[in-house]
Amino acid sequence: MRILFLGDVFGSCGKRILAEHLPEILSEHAIEVCIANAENVAGGKGITLNILKKFHKYGVDIVTGGNHSMSRPEVFTETPPQKHVLRPLNLRHEERGEGSTVFTLSDGRKIGVINLCGRTYFNEDLECPFTVAKAIAQHMAVETAHIIVDFHAEATSEKVCLANYLDGRVSAVLGTHTHVQTADERILPKGTAYISDVGMTGPEDSAIGMKLKQVIDRFVNQAHVRFQPASAGPMLNGVILEIDESTGKATAIQRLYQRYRFKS
Ligand SMILES: [Fe+2]
Ligand SMILES: [Fe+2]
Repeated sequence: MRILFLGDVFGSCGKRILAEHLPEILSEHAIEVCIANAENVAGGKGITLNILKKFHKYGVDIVTGGNHSMSRPEVFTETPPQKHVLRPLNLRHEERGEGSTVFTLSDGRKIGVINLCGRTYFNEDLECPFTVAKAIAQHMAVETAHIIVDFHAEATSEKVCLANYLDGRVSAVLGTHTHVQTADERILPKGTAYISDVGMTGPEDSAIGMKLKQVIDRFVNQAHVRFQPASAGPMLNGVILEIDESTGKATAIQRLYQRYRFKS
């Protein structure tokens, strides 16, 4: 199974990259399933129902989230409930939305996706991602051998430890949240693909998505200005995974980094 996973799609810049380029990427790389982290797409925080529909139109099958997901909870409380849009599974006491899903391809094959948040440097009330991941992966394995974990976390140590803890139990552990793509993609000894951070699909010429000048002003002058999403330097960050059909083990992980120019 060939899977494309896109790092945090940020603001209108990220949305426009998907609108203008995702269909050609899916076809060029013979992608069968597309997963995108979209915790920052609605003006930097969360995702709306309207944007979710557009994502599906562009070719995204499953949407994952992170620490900003619950800033726009409407998408999780729609009637009928929206399928395959996730927020972190280990948000304690959160009843809205789902943290894992099993997606069925048109030919009947299945892929499970799990979304988790790390605990290092996060204030949210979170259950242990290690314990939660192990239990849900075990449960999902009854239905499918293809399991992808989006681990939305700050610390690379926590990410590399979760990946090794789950090695051989899931197809991939992919880090998100920092908006900076790391160059440490690899397949762990028991067949789990790993990267510390997939990166961001949004404006690279920014402070991880926000307008540089405002963020520099905050650092230099402790100015309390409201940050606004940037749009300069459209960049797509993702990974393409190749997963063995019978075992669910990863056979390849390839990074994507692409800069674009918008036509006016
Ligand atoms: Fe993010
Ligand atoms: Fe985040």
